[in-house]
Amino acid sequence: MQANHVDQAELSPRERLLKRPRSEWEPFIRSLSKQRQQQLPYDWMGFEARPKQRVPPGDWLTWLILSGRGWGKTRTGAETVRHWVEAGAKRIILVGRSGSDVRKTMVEGESGILAVSPPGNMPEWLPGNRQLIWPNGAIGDCYSGDEPRQLRGFQGEKAWIDEPAHWQYPAEAFKNLFFGLRLGDNPQCVATTTPLPIRPIIDLAKADTTIVTNGSSFENRANLSELYYTQNIAPYVGTRVGRQEIEGEILSDVPGALWTRALIDEHRRKGRPELVRVVVAIDPAVTNTEESDDTGIIAAGLGIDGHGYVLQDATCKLDPPGWGARAVGVYDFRQADEVIGETNNGGDLVERNLRVIRPNIPFRKVTATRGKSKRAQPVATLYERGLVHHVGSFDELEDQMVLFTPEGGFITSPDRADALVWALWALMIEPVQQRRILMLEEPYQVSPY
Ligand SMILES: Nc1ncnc2c1ncn2[C@@H]1O[C@H](COP(=O)(O)OP(=O)(O)OP(=O)(O)O)[C@@H](O)[C@H]1O
Ligand SMILES: [Mg+2]
Repeated sequence: MQANHVDQAELSPRERLLKRPRSEWEPFIRSLSKQRQQQLPYDWMGFEARPKQRVPPGDWLTWLILSGRGWGKTRTGAETVRHWVEAGAKRIILVGRSGSDVRKTMVEGESGILAVSPPGNMPEWLPGNRQLIWPNGAIGDCYSGDEPRQLRGFQGEKAWIDEPAHWQYPAEAFKNLFFGLRLGDNPQCVATTTPLPIRPIIDLAKADTTIVTNGSSFENRANLSELYYTQNIAPYVGTRVGRQEIEGEILSDVPGALWTRALIDEHRRKGRPELVRVVVAIDPAVTNTEESDDTGIIAAGLGIDGHGYVLQDATCKLDPPGWGARAVGVYDFRQADEVIGETNNGGDLVERNLRVIRPNIPFRKVTATRGKSKRAQPVATLYERGLVHHVGSFDELEDQMVLFTPEGGFITSPDRADALVWALWALMIEPVQQRRILMLEEPYQVSPY
């Protein structure tokens, strides 16, 4: 599994040269002109890059680098941007996981753009404008993958996106990014990331216009410090998650996650039977800023067969009046029996907020007395027993579910999955009285919300 030794063919010309005895490489370096000696460390394509790190030729839209920690992803992204600017590109877009990641890693980091730029072609960095300006007039604009709306309306020729598998809103950010990537005759995007099995990355990897490069952390072992290796790579050696974190494989499932994609797919349904009870569960965002979380809103029903049916994911990023109105809208559309909300997350915020809109809405408080994963575990068990069905597909919800591990390692805020857990909990684990009137069987319906 692990490539603990690296093939000669994988090395960069510099690495190959330095593997030879000093008595051979030293005279070679000395034989070069002073100018060439100074250029060498900046000769990415001809000297420094390993073959897989060189910008591939041909007609691609996306170069997707899925590789392990420390492989040299950020360095390759930064060098690709430099290569493009040197080849005449004028509008570059840089997107990282957050505003501070773009700045600290992609621009100012040890393998970021400033670090790889030669003195003669050093861009000016204007952090206040989040802009890089190269001596030839090329402009690099920085964006955060957590604020995909900012990407709307931009136009660019080339883009570098770092760690997109770990962005909060990859699907929306990709949509806006690729829509705006339309200047020049050869728009292109390099995407550098350790993978996660989420839909936007899986789809990007499959696209006809994408070239995928996979790589193991061990390919860059010689350039990693002992400290980096010990902290970031050694703990994963020989583990299943190491296939993702070291080898850069898109695993079908995240090790330790409470749900697998196969499990959700196996029990997916196109329609639902009669329902005896319907709930709408809300996991609220407590603050409302560009950076704040989504408010998870999930509608689910209990079938006459005793199974749970997930009906709708109406999660949104709105202010309290906005998500309140949306939740009430879903409640009406689904003819739900009650709304479920958590109390210790912002006090009675959910109830108060809903009552402003609909004073008598049936509301059930649930209190998060146990940790997130303890609460989710019994719900995951219901899936394992084949008792829960998704009526249709809910890509973003399902991505959160397959990344949901007890340690919570891969996603910071699984709002959709949390709301789902509350909905199924209220229907199947702590149910209240069943409703009087059955909701008749119907096929999958598209909700206006
Ligand atoms: N071909 C190369 N030759 C020499 N050094 C390299 C090469 N590729 C990468 N490096 C160096 O290896 C180190 C790790 O690279 P980088 O930060 O780009 O890795 P990464 O894959 O982005 O890591 P992380 O997973 O931590 O984000 C950096 O110091 C970088 O300059
Ligand atoms: Mg990196």
